Amino acid sequence: MSNVKAAVFASGTGSNFEAIMNSENLACEIVLLVCDKPGASVIEKAERFGVQTFVANPKAYASKSEYEAEVLKTVREFGVEWIFLAGYMRLVGVTLLEAYEGKILNIHPSLLPAFPGKDAIGQALQSGATVTGVTVHFIDEGMDTGPIIAQEKVTVMPGDTEESLKVRIQQVEHALYPRVINNIVRRASLYPVK
Ligand code: GAR
Repeated sequence: MSNVKAAVFASGTGSNFEAIMNSENLACEIVLLVCDKPGASVIEKAERFGVQTFVANPKAYASKSEYEAEVLKTVREFGVEWIFLAGYMRLVGVTLLEAYEGKILNIHPSLLPAFPGKDAIGQALQSGATVTGVTVHFIDEGMDTGPIIAQEKVTVMPGDTEESLKVRIQQVEHALYPRVINNIVRRASLYPVK
């Protein structure tokens, strides 16, 4: 198993978390799940995989920076080098961004810069787009902005509903995210920044 340690941050169902965990020969070890939604089903999934969890409601903290300071302390305790956002429905703030510069990836269900933010699939359907897709990118301080690493198209079929389109988009996500993670982590190990 790889000695490079990583954390997944998620808020919801955790199908991407599951896909990452099930991927063979992952270039890093997922040692921690950070979840900002107590009760989210991704937490049970992590427990099933024997992955430690840090679950906290950010509203229980005096400020975003206090919440993130606690998250930062935890990821550091776990020796986390990479952070993968997988349906983490919250903007990452400066505390984590500065500490993990160039080390936080996000997956988003559209061809960014189209349809950023929440409900990207609904936005695509409402716009009448015939093609949408999936983007994996490094994050910055913006909402679903930051340098794009990989994109894959998904055709919007006539009669598609949010559910039917989501199924096809998530199939793409589950294959793409582990592949991109492996490429990025392996490349960084070959050419470490001194
Ligand atoms: C995924 O489709 C992911 O791309 C999206 O949330 C879903 C989480 O699903 N993320 C965003 O919209 C980020 N802006 P999951 O919990 O089943 O992995």
